[in-house]
Amino acid sequence: MNSSRLLMRLRLTRAGLIVGLMSCMTLGFGQTEIPKAINELLTKHTCYTCHKLDLKLIGPSWTAISAKGLKKAEFVQSVYTPDANKWPGYPPMMPMPQVPKKDLEKIADWVLKIKPVASK
Ligand code: HEC
Repeated sequence: MNSSRLLMRLRLTRAGLIVGLMSCMTLGFGQTEIPKAINELLTKHTCYTCHKLDLKLIGPSWTAISAKGLKKAEFVQSVYTPDANKWPGYPPMMPMPQVPKKDLEKIADWVLKIKPVASK
């Protein structure tokens, strides 16, 4: 890698960090960084309306979902055919067949790797 590409890389990394920091600030937590691409998907597909990283909202937090130990395919399927029986105390999530499978797989890859900071 030549030096100008390296510089470019560094700039991109820095931009990523700033975006990451900004999203942490707006979302109100600093423990887990949400990658920019994931942040965009969660925003675009309105998942954030009901799911936050570490906060119980209308739906369970991503951390709580991660702690259930779903497989990737189960995660994807659960967005198409949610089963509220698995989440006592929550309203049922509406099925979201419009979200592309490849986007859900990316979201799943990230969510399922979140380590619980504190169980909520
Ligand atoms: C209008 C609110 C709302 C939106 C928008 C929403 N969810 Fe949910 N979600 C819920 C609720 C409530 C639950 C718990 C009850 C249930 O599973 O039906 C849930 C549960 C889940 C679960 C747990 C499934 C399981 O089997 O344990 C996953 C995974 C999930 N949501 C992913 C997503 C993703 C990805 C998006 C965006 C594409 C999204 N949700 C958008 C409300 C929402």
